[in-house]
Amino acid sequence: MFRLPDHSWRPLIAGLLLTTGVQALAEPLGIGQAASADEIAGWDIDVRPDGLGLPPGEGSVMDGEMLYESRCASCHGTFGEGVGRWPVLSGGFDTLTHERPTKTVGSYWPYASTLWDYIHRAMPFTAPRSLSADETYAISAYVLYLNDIVDDEFVLTQDNLASIEMPNQDGFFLDDRPDSPNMRCMKDCANPEQLEMVGTIGGITPVGHFKQGADAPAASHEAQKALEEQKERERLHSLGIEVEAPHERADSELSASALAGREVYEAACVACHGSGLAGAPKLGDQADWSPRLAKGMDTLLKHAIEGFTGTKGVMPPKGGRVDLSDEQIMHAVAFMTEKSR
Ligand code: HEC
Ligand code: HEC
Repeated sequence: MFRLPDHSWRPLIAGLLLTTGVQALAEPLGIGQAASADEIAGWDIDVRPDGLGLPPGEGSVMDGEMLYESRCASCHGTFGEGVGRWPVLSGGFDTLTHERPTKTVGSYWPYASTLWDYIHRAMPFTAPRSLSADETYAISAYVLYLNDIVDDEFVLTQDNLASIEMPNQDGFFLDDRPDSPNMRCMKDCANPEQLEMVGTIGGITPVGHFKQGADAPAASHEAQKALEEQKERERLHSLGIEVEAPHERADSELSASALAGREVYEAACVACHGSGLAGAPKLGDQADWSPRLAKGMDTLLKHAIEGFTGTKGVMPPKGGRVDLSDEQIMHAVAFMTEKSR
C-alpha cells in the first residue's frame, strides 16, 4: 500500500466525504480543494471478487494471445513459464502442499477479479495502466487459458468474469484461531545444550530438520543451487520444455585409472573441488579446467602431490591428506580431469 504524507490526506478524505454527502465537514478546515468526480474515478479502480468495479468491455483468448506475446511474453515466457527470474504465471497445480510450492495465477489465486485488477493497474511492468479495458479482458482471458481454466474460444466480459471458478478458490479461509501470547520462558525451560548446531563447510547450519537432497533447503549453497536447477528442469519439463542438465562426463566414458580415483576424490578432494571452495577448480567446470589441462598431466599431478599456489588460491599438498600414496593421488587427478574435459 502507499502512504500519503501527513498533511496531504485531508483534501482526499474531504473529497471522499463530499461524495458521500457529508459536505459540511469539508468546509471548516478551509484548506485544499474538493476532489472532482474525475479525480476520484482515477483512484477508484479496484475490482472485487463479485465483479464490482469492472468497466464494460470484453476480450477473447485469441486477441489476448497476440497482445500477450508482444507485451508480456518477454518477461513471463510464451507459456507463462517465466523467463529467468521473472514471475511464473501458469502451472504449479498440486504444488501448494510442497515444501516449495509454485504459486501462480492458476495454482494459487482464488479469484479471477484479482487477475484483471492486477494486470490493469500494474502491468506491463514498464508501462503500468497503459492497457485499455478491452485489452485487459483479452490478456486476462489468455492467462486463464494458459492455466487451462478456459478454452481457446472463450471471450471474457464484464458479466462473466465473476463466475469463473479458480482452482484454488477454496484454499483460502479465515484464520479463527485465538491469539496466543508468546511468553518468555523463565523456569523449567528446554535445555539449550540439547539443541543441535552443526558446522558445515558453507558455515554454521542447524541441520536437525534439513536433509540434503530432500525437497527442503539443502545444507550448502552449492547443493541448494543444484537442487533448484533440478527443480527448474522438472518444472519446465512439465510444461513440455526440455533443458539439458549441466554436462558432466558419464562414468562409462572414464578410464580405469579415473574410476579407481573416485573413492579418493570423494574422501580427500570433494570438500574443495566439489563446490569450488577457496578457489578450487570445480569438478565439471570446463572453463576452469581447460587451461589447467593444457599444462599436461605430469604438471597437474606434481601440483596435486606437492601442493600448488595459483592465482585463485592454495592447493595443499595431496589436499591435506599426506597419508595418501602418490598413486592414489594420480587416480584422483585422472578422475577429476576426465570428469571436467
Ligand atoms: C519487464 C518485465 C515484465 C513485463 C513485460 C510484464 N511483467 Fe508482469 N510482472 C513483472 C514483475 C517484475 C512482476 C512482479 C511485480 C511485483 O511483485 O511487484 C510481475 C507480476 C505479474 C503478475 C503477478 C504474478 C504473481 O503471481 O504475483 C501478473 C499476473 C503479471 N505480471 C502479468 C503480466 C501481463 C499480463 C503482462 C503483459 C501485459 C506483463 N505482466 C508484463 C514483470 C513484467
Ligand atoms: C583445501 C582445499 C583443497 C583440497 C582439499 C584439494 N584441493 Fe586441489 N586445489 C585447490 C585449489 C584452491 C586449487 C587452485 C589453485 C589455483 O589455481 O590458484 C586446486 C587445484 C588443483 C589442481 C590443479 C592444479 C593446477 O596446476 O592448476 C589439481 C590437479 C588438484 N587441485 C588436485 C587435487 C586433488 C587430487 C585433491 C584430493 C587428493 C585436491 N586437489 C584437494 C584446493 C584444494
